[in-house]
Amino acid sequence: MRILSGIQPSGTLHIGNYFGMIKKMVESQDDGELFAFIASYHALTSLKDSEALKSNIFEAAVNFLSLGLDPNKSTFWSQSDVPEVLELYWLLSNHTSMGLLERAHSYKDKVAKGILANHGLFSYPVLMAADILLYDSDIVPVGKDQVQHVEITRDIANTFNVTYNKEILKLPVAKVDEVVATVLGTDGAKMSKSYGNTIDLFAAPKKLKKQVMGIVTDSTPLEEPKDYTNCNVYNLCKLFMNEDELRVLRDKYATPNMGYGHFKLDLLEAITKYFEPFQEKKDFYTQNPDIVKDILSDGAKKARIIAKAKLEILREIVGLKI
Ligand code: ADP
Ligand code: TRP
Repeated sequence: MRILSGIQPSGTLHIGNYFGMIKKMVESQDDGELFAFIASYHALTSLKDSEALKSNIFEAAVNFLSLGLDPNKSTFWSQSDVPEVLELYWLLSNHTSMGLLERAHSYKDKVAKGILANHGLFSYPVLMAADILLYDSDIVPVGKDQVQHVEITRDIANTFNVTYNKEILKLPVAKVDEVVATVLGTDGAKMSKSYGNTIDLFAAPKKLKKQVMGIVTDSTPLEEPKDYTNCNVYNLCKLFMNEDELRVLRDKYATPNMGYGHFKLDLLEAITKYFEPFQEKKDFYTQNPDIVKDILSDGAKKARIIAKAKLEILREIVGLKI
């Protein structure tokens, strides 16, 4: 079984990305053959600063490797090191109706937020479909917001297969972990780098503290008990604490004179403890960029062999080879 997923290097990764996607990808290394890539072409839809893009690609690679992605078990590369994906993107574009793309939530949301729409942003799901279909992926672990893109991928693949009367593109299935389907941010909305409500992965202690202390809470006076249901601090604690720890925390919520500041410090400690085991690797890879680049380049070589073989077949099928 082939499991494939990608992440855009469009900013610093946060704990929503971790629980929504990275953690699942790392765990899936034991369930099948994992193909993981940094969606560098996709990032161009929003990022036009070349230095920032370069450093984000590197940072995303370091984060994945530190958080458990094992390049000996999995194929790990940067999307733009396998440019064959762009040829498939073009082939698929000719089997993608405008309406299908116009209905994409992610595109509509971004336009609604005032992001200037260009063709790259509009056709982004077709590139994502190419990523998935080029490698005959079975399963695509993603956060809830990406499920529609996997549905679009199935749609495009089906149209292509019907057009050429061949089961050549494999229809993928999205895998969403319902428990952590959407990690909420410090303001209670979906955590997202574009909303400025994140708790970042591997943030320096001072920054992490600032982000945690900035979580929005209600104005229950200190001397009154607090309600943990729907509390942004408690919701985040659920990701990092076991049931015993949560019980202790709930007792604190019920205790007068225990305030949100206390609960936030408990959360801060839990986050720090949770990511501590990964810190050593993070420091190692950060200090050894050549090792990171070699891993990505080896991954691209492996991915490219598969990509080229698949494209040969597809070129034949559509009639480009005479
Ligand atoms: P962002 O919204 O911060 O720009 P991306 O859209 O780049 O994040 O998402 C990268 C991956 O992380 C996707 O698979 C997405 O579903 C997942 N993800 C992002 N934010 C969250 C969240 N708040 N909760 C769960 N998963 C998330
Ligand atoms: N669109 C995804 C995101 O923003 C990233 C991505 C690109 C992806 N290609 C993919 C995810 C293929 C899964 C499979 O998060």
